[in-house]
Amino acid sequence: MEKVVLASNNAGKLREFREILEGLFEIVSLRDLGLEADPEETGGSFAENARIKAEYSCRLSGLPALADDSGLEVDALGGAPGIYSARYAPGTDADRVAKLLRDMENMEDRTARFVSAVALVYPDGRQVTARGTCEGVITRQPQGEGGFGYDPIFLPDGYDQTFGLLSAETKNSISHRGRAVRALREKLR
Ligand code: IMP
Repeated sequence: MEKVVLASNNAGKLREFREILEGLFEIVSLRDLGLEADPEETGGSFAENARIKAEYSCRLSGLPALADDSGLEVDALGGAPGIYSARYAPGTDADRVAKLLRDMENMEDRTARFVSAVALVYPDGRQVTARGTCEGVITRQPQGEGGFGYDPIFLPDGYDQTFGLLSAETKNSISHRGRAVRALREKLR
């Protein structure tokens, strides 16, 4: 099985990539390789940032590198926090969830989507990219302890439980990241 380094130290993302790509790639983290990488995400889009992270980790490790840049776009906030989702508030995931709920306190329109751009970069310069989205609404209270990030306040369309309550298998089957990775797999065929 081909070994691929995941250009992230986010434990939630690492777990999901391992689940989604089981049997196809052996996913190792930068930490597994004893490497530290935190390239500046200077891109203006999810796709650009995914490429920046994958290129950096590929150069550093000499291995094919897979990166995901992802986030939550809230329509009533003009698409925020978007590419700034990880930095929306200092502190923990719970702090960022609390800030988003405060910012949306009086908002009736709660439609939103998760977006994931993935990039796979090979040492010979080859690049394959794909994107996935998942539509839903932002709840008024956090529900569930599963997943990571904004999962407890994201209710995907067609489901009556948040990503924080749905099983990992169900989340991966409809999530932005699951869709992006399946699109990437199609392109690799
Ligand atoms: P990145 O590591 O710069 O791509 O930051 C992505 C951020 O978006 C994460 O830190 C989360 O806050 C949020 N995010 C991305 N994907 C998910 C997800 O599947 N569930 C919950 N939050 C997510």
